Amino acid sequence: MDTVVLGLQWGDEGKGKLCDEMAPGHAAVVRFQGGANAGHTVVRSGVKIALHQMPCGALHAGVRCVIAAGCVVDPVALRAEAEGLGLGPDRLAVSARAQVVPPWYGAIDAAEERLREHGAVGTTGRGIGPAYAAKAGRWGITVGELSDPGARAARLAAVLPWHHRWLGALGLPAPAWPDLDGLGDWLRPYVVDDLAAIAAGRAAGPVLFEGQLGIMRDPDRGLQPAATGASLLPPAALTGPAPRVLGVAKPYVTMVGGGDFPTEAGGPDADVLRELGEEYGATTGRPRRCGWLDLPALRYAARAAGATHLAMQMKLDGLAALGRMPVCVAYSGWDEARGYPLPHEVGRVEPVYEDWGPPADPVALARRIADAVGLPLAYAGTGAARGEAVWPQGRQ
Ligand code: IMP
Repeated sequence: MDTVVLGLQWGDEGKGKLCDEMAPGHAAVVRFQGGANAGHTVVRSGVKIALHQMPCGALHAGVRCVIAAGCVVDPVALRAEAEGLGLGPDRLAVSARAQVVPPWYGAIDAAEERLREHGAVGTTGRGIGPAYAAKAGRWGITVGELSDPGARAARLAAVLPWHHRWLGALGLPAPAWPDLDGLGDWLRPYVVDDLAAIAAGRAAGPVLFEGQLGIMRDPDRGLQPAATGASLLPPAALTGPAPRVLGVAKPYVTMVGGGDFPTEAGGPDADVLRELGEEYGATTGRPRRCGWLDLPALRYAARAAGATHLAMQMKLDGLAALGRMPVCVAYSGWDEARGYPLPHEVGRVEPVYEDWGPPADPVALARRIADAVGLPLAYAGTGAARGEAVWPQGRQ
């Protein structure tokens, strides 16, 4: 059975560790959205490895890695990552339909952030929003086009004048064009039809779909405008029938960047959660905002994601040091049967807290959270290292 791993909070729930645990039982690991904004952290022999575009399967010999059509690919960053990990075309396949993130999208991303009057989204600056905007506007460049010398020249001639206007409107200088021919030629051996690559993977075993970010940053179901550019929902057409959808969460909440955060904790409490949980962005190094478990948001995200199971990363050091665990069990006066507050209403909700006391047995606590969400518990991570985990229903 295929498995989809999705974040049910605002990102950084520990999807990287879970996918790293699961990858060996799978023929292929597929990234299906996002780009180099991800920072999936895996700990190997005490050393932290952050994967940005590369699926977690990269760390397991024999597991094929696929970057599918919904992704946006920064070829400079991907090349550095592939070469650093020693991954050749036998292990890594990139969809011809994925969009390219040329280096100047990062400058556009930063300039658009500076212009936002509703408050900055706090993007990672990796050009993700501009790449999805260019795709929607039909001004993008696909991996297939960049890697095909004939198509490349024609497509660049068609879209670069518009890119110059976009840069000019933002007051940005014309970029120093990188060696697009060289990047396209480097990509060529990796380029595939992703549907065919995934089908070939499935013939050899189940396929793992590795989501990025968390549902609360989804452009449709999250808290627009503090959202990312890519849909974070399960890739229904790519998976085999009735996949298992594991929604991942932590027993508290972190957020990087702007946007409403109903259960954000005050100064010293947040500092304890951040320091003991090492809550710093894996891509940008930014300190993460920290707060309490938000059950109304988690129940909503589980429904929005179509999660079939909950997977809990029981990072408990901060809560244990605080000796208490405030949990938002409801929003005052809000009936969850109506749905979740709209993005423009979320800033006004008043969390109702219960103190669940000092956390003791991580697996019992994970079960209590799963019961409160209304999902079966598939996994409870009990430490950062590989293998520190309990699978109440078995691994597959
Ligand atoms: P973008 O995806 O770079 O456009 O950023 C959109 C929002 O999502 C910003 O608030 C980012 O801080 C947040 N974000 C993007 N990627 C990650 C991630 O991997 N972890 C946590 N937050 C992220």
